[in-house]
Amino acid sequence: MKNVLITGGAGFIGANFVHYLLNAEPDVQIINLDALTYAGNLENLADLRDNPRHIFVVGDICDQELVNSLFHDHRIDTVVHFAAESHVDRSILGPGQFVQTNIVGTFTLLEAARRSWLIEKRLPAETVRFHHVSTDEVFGSLQPGEPAWTEDTPYAPHSPYSASKAASDHLVRSYFYTYGLPVTISNCSNNYGPYQFPEKLIPLMILNALEGKPLPVYGDGKQVRDWLYVEDHCAAIYRILQAGKTGETYNIGGNNQPTNLEIVHTICRILDQLCPDSPHYPHAHLIKFVADRPGHDRRYAMDITKITSELGWQPQEDLNSGLDKTVQWYLTRPEWVRSITEREDYQSWMKSNYANR
Ligand code: NAD
Ligand code: DAU
Repeated sequence: MKNVLITGGAGFIGANFVHYLLNAEPDVQIINLDALTYAGNLENLADLRDNPRHIFVVGDICDQELVNSLFHDHRIDTVVHFAAESHVDRSILGPGQFVQTNIVGTFTLLEAARRSWLIEKRLPAETVRFHHVSTDEVFGSLQPGEPAWTEDTPYAPHSPYSASKAASDHLVRSYFYTYGLPVTISNCSNNYGPYQFPEKLIPLMILNALEGKPLPVYGDGKQVRDWLYVEDHCAAIYRILQAGKTGETYNIGGNNQPTNLEIVHTICRILDQLCPDSPHYPHAHLIKFVADRPGHDRRYAMDITKITSELGWQPQEDLNSGLDKTVQWYLTRPEWVRSITEREDYQSWMKSNYANR
């Protein structure tokens, strides 16, 4: 791994991974391609401004000419593909951009890799890798008591977001079977931690609670997610790059399954401890049950036996310590928070998603 193209590296997980990889691999050069959509934030990379090992390119993964030129000019040998439209609620209100970025964008990157590595043969075949970052949501929804998803579970996506990610996974796999492109795929559960955009459950609840705004819990709040601290996700991807077998898929998860309501109560408890003088104490009084998400998946759970037994990865952070760290991170980053919450597009998103619930 020498010249790594990271897509979506100004977003939540991508930015965490850029930092992780620069620390883990002292000789690696990162080309970070990001369109800086509403979810991309250069503040997530502020400490890397003068780092010669990190080259930031503003651009769209659907731009074939640009992507081809990055492969050519930087002799890209490894791709870690994060860039996506990632929020389920936004995919319900506007699915078109999800089809474009998540499906067409992935196709564009695959074509560039095929051309550079397999047609023009710019680099030795055994030195290249295309890693696609995907989601557990491609598996659909579990009933209470059903076993966790394995890598062999058939796909059954329910939202436009998860359907677009499923399509991208299928495309990536097809390039392995049809052309022999050396790919790996990971399907990961819900991430949380530093730099997460405050449209997702955990940062949204932290910020709303701090401001004394309602904490909007969809439906009965008994939906279950499998939460993973973002640094553990980064470590898992790195491990797959090091030792994963091409053509293979790896499930990644945190081995925990609280309900959404339990998560929100835990956040409120942490805030009660950290901010006992807050006018919004006790924060759980802010919880408000609101209309459910259409097609809301009830339960996710990942079986991580394969990555644990074959690659020796397992999560290091437990949910309580991870949530503690996360709340502290948001409490100590008021400028980062304001750089998002004061934006008009953020405020209008909040209105459009929550006004009529
Ligand atoms: P995010 O929304 O925080 O960031 C996405 C990034 O992609 C942003 O920086 C954005 O500017 C960039 N981007 C969007 N469209 C682009 C385009 N056309 N060209 C170039 N860049 C573009 O997302 P995230 O939560 O960090 O998720 C990253 C990846 O991980 C996604 O593929 C997502 O499906 C997957 N994933 C996320 C989670 C999670 O819990 N957040 C869990 C499993 C998998
Ligand atoms: O499972 C992996 C997926 O996790 C990733 O692929 C997605 O990119 C990521 O956004 C996330 O999807 P979710 O829909 O599970 O995450 P979100 O934070 O939006 O919601 C988590 C749960 O909380 C879900 O059951 C919906 C609920 N929720 C969410 C919001 C934003 C609420 O009850 N209220 C809210 O305001």
